[in-house]
Amino acid sequence: HNASQICDVKGVPLISSMHEIFGRVEKFQAKADDILIATYPKAGTTWMIEIMDSIRQGGITKEITTIPSHELSFCFGVSSGVDLLKDMPSPRLVKTHLPFQLVPQSFWDKGCKVIYVARNAKDILVSYFFFHKITPILPHAGTWDDFFESFLSGNVVSMHQGIRWVSLMMCQFLPIFQDPMREVERVARFLGHTLDNGTIQEIVKHTSFNMMKDNPMTNFSRMPTCIVDVRISPFMRKGQVGDWKNHFTVAQNQRFEEEYRRRMAKTSLRFRTEL
Ligand code: A3P
Repeated sequence: HNASQICDVKGVPLISSMHEIFGRVEKFQAKADDILIATYPKAGTTWMIEIMDSIRQGGITKEITTIPSHELSFCFGVSSGVDLLKDMPSPRLVKTHLPFQLVPQSFWDKGCKVIYVARNAKDILVSYFFFHKITPILPHAGTWDDFFESFLSGNVVSMHQGIRWVSLMMCQFLPIFQDPMREVERVARFLGHTLDNGTIQEIVKHTSFNMMKDNPMTNFSRMPTCIVDVRISPFMRKGQVGDWKNHFTVAQNQRFEEEYRRRMAKTSLRFRTEL
């Protein structure tokens, strides 16, 4: 078990492997037709990637059902991600959990399309706790109470510091959950694709939680266990809005609310934390 340490990269806590390769990440050359999917970890990244790729393929094609979703896009988290992206055919789907100020400059210079997925922070906290347990390359989570404290004090990997993207489409977990037809259509429009209703329905079905949970291409069961070990806990864990209620104590919820109000005072973004 080679749990990673948290390292500071320009004021952002990242895993040490990211620290080592950051010089290469900074110099990464984006192409104009690259599509960047930017999220805080556990916001619904894998879900959106599957939706985006299905849209780009024009529906549920053989590619969609036979290529593991972790090969559809690569992240800047490890050096292999940077190398794999270079060899990827265009138009590339590039995944990042980096906050705005650390995203390679060339994405802005080239005017790439950006899709940002956000999710309420309470569910993210719970989801991220379980994800730490199955991801040996992340620091040890400790107990639930430990992790709760680390998260609140900003001592977990890749805390976002506000969203200041230039040309981006904003998505949220809850609206996709509540009205996937509308959201898939919206993403398709943003990506410049027109799909008929039947195809949209097909994509919504293919990207539903139950389908993705059972699909070996999307449930991370094909991932090397040294990166994500789904034998410990499934990657497709619950896929719900409001699961935080099963984990937060009353006192933790109060502390969370206070901290959240303080840190999010300047944003007009609003999130519902339950249905
Ligand atoms: P939970 O741990 O709350 O279940 P990411 O891909 O950004 O790491 O996010 C993972 C989270 O998204 C997990 O949340 C996972 O279950 C959820 N998720 C993935 N696909 C989903 C889908 N099709 N519908 C609903 N939730 C989904």
